[in-house]
Amino acid sequence: MIYAQILAGGKGTRMGHVKMPKQFLTLADKPILIHTVEKFVLESRFAAILIVCPADWLSHTKEIVHRYIHDDRVKVVTGGAERNETLMQGINYLQTHYDLTDDDVVITHDAVRPFITQRIIADNITAALQYPAVDTVVPAIDTIVQGATESVTTIPVRESMYQGQTPQSFNIQALIKAYDKLTTDQKATLSDSCKICLLAGETVHLVRGENFNFKITTPYDLKVATALVETRE
Ligand code: CTP
Repeated sequence: MIYAQILAGGKGTRMGHVKMPKQFLTLADKPILIHTVEKFVLESRFAAILIVCPADWLSHTKEIVHRYIHDDRVKVVTGGAERNETLMQGINYLQTHYDLTDDDVVITHDAVRPFITQRIIADNITAALQYPAVDTVVPAIDTIVQGATESVTTIPVRESMYQGQTPQSFNIQALIKAYDKLTTDQKATLSDSCKICLLAGETVHLVRGENFNFKITTPYDLKVATALVETRE
């Protein structure tokens, strides 16, 4: 089976002083999260689509899902303090509520990347059915410079540099095994989910993203996203 998981458990502190986590802010006519979920319900192969949100936003999330989305596959679940904790809370829910097999896969996506396309979702599904882990990336536009506080340590060749996006997709059993191998420290500090599999020695396959599949992180991003929605209408 193929499952989707929308990661909506963050606080959005880089958005500044706003009254709710950024995934619930309005983009044009509806919450950012709803724009994202709408892209996922269009894919008929998903057996379930989990939205994993902060505990204190559970009833709000259920309310907006009820208002905008009419699809029984969508379930709202409580996330965790760190992004990977949220991911694994969703995996726990899948383990508890579905009869998972070794072949089952999950397509995980940031709630705050509302411009994902059906092509990116389909490419993730195809790759996840074949590889243990899948990352969606775009080639780096700027040169990437690695540095310590005040000086450059290395400048990698740009042609082999990519910027990570989501979805990140996994064979569910491979992800669980890889996560179980991590130390408590690694679990707390890993900010990237594909790195869980990379550290366990699994192949992480690349899928092409799109520059417009960007993450809404700051007020500037929200302005860009609003302009994009308005020019598409
Ligand atoms: N996320 C999550 N659970 C967490 C932290 C983040 O599900 N504990 C989700 C966010 O809701 C978002 C995605 O992961 O959809 C990317 O998160 P990011 O923007 O990097 O982090 P936030 O915590 O949302 O924002 P900030 O870092 O600015 O506080």
